[in-house]
Amino acid sequence: MAEGKENAGREPVLIVKDVTARFGDNVLFEKVGFQVRRGEIFAIAGESGCGKSTLLKIMIGLLKPASGTVWMEGVNVTGAGEEQMRRIRSGMGVLFQSGALFGSMTLGENVALPLREYTDLPAPWIDRVVRAKLAMVNLGGLEDRYPAELSGGMQKRAGLARAMALDPGILFFDEPFSGLDPVTSAELEVLIRRIRSAVGSTMIMVSHDLPSLFNLADRIILLDRGARGILAEGDPREMKRDAVDGRVARFLHRAVPDEKPEEVGK
Ligand SMILES: Nc1ncnc2c1ncn2[C@@H]1O[C@H](COP(=O)(O)OP(=O)(O)OP(=O)(O)O)[C@@H](O)[C@H]1O
Ligand SMILES: [Mg+2]
Repeated sequence: MAEGKENAGREPVLIVKDVTARFGDNVLFEKVGFQVRRGEIFAIAGESGCGKSTLLKIMIGLLKPASGTVWMEGVNVTGAGEEQMRRIRSGMGVLFQSGALFGSMTLGENVALPLREYTDLPAPWIDRVVRAKLAMVNLGGLEDRYPAELSGGMQKRAGLARAMALDPGILFFDEPFSGLDPVTSAELEVLIRRIRSAVGSTMIMVSHDLPSLFNLADRIILLDRGARGILAEGDPREMKRDAVDGRVARFLHRAVPDEKPEEVGK
């Protein structure tokens, strides 16, 4: 059983109800609904182009859905004004699919950005938080490096440090493992699990990387372009075992371990 399941409260921190996404005539999905509970690692899976990133942008209030509602911590994100949105943003961290870091800024400056934007902390305090966050992702001492000087895995970790800057209750990751080799992905998985155990943040991850879904997610939803919505929802291991729908079985049976590996490097 997934380790976070017992710990995860039943209380929903994020509610998505009847959300429809459309670009012009292109309807990606219709009346999608699900709830994410406090403390769980929840993943949105599905093939490329099914609308995972679009759904994530709707959840964090970057994009308005054609219809439907999203509540985060009881606040209506889809109906929020600028001031409310600012408050919502200060309580969440996001690791975007592309362009996670600003190349013209050092790692330290990148991680400091949300602190400068959302807090009144004096500069020495910001420096202290920046150093702590970089140390948390095993990048201690690299404050003055530029993103281009780092490997892909280190860049993802720096992006994670920036997403964690404000100690958010909810973290969103869009394809955190894309472009990483299996070893680097596994290291990032361990780090994400460790952060969840230490901080207890709710994590919402978009991914089509099957091994990481099985290793990390307590629950997943499987989005499907043809179905214009959610094909299946639940514990990915149970879904894989019990899949009756051919599309669900095909997606989950591509190439994955049956059991979650032991936590390493703790
Ligand atoms: N701003 C936009 N305007 C018009 N069409 C868009 C826009 N953003 C996304 N789309 C289209 O919506 C569809 C879903 O895109 P989205 O990025 O949400 O998919 P995804 O599931 O995240 O894919 P991937 O796994 O490749 O990241 C794609 O066909 C894309 O071309
Ligand atoms: Mg995407």
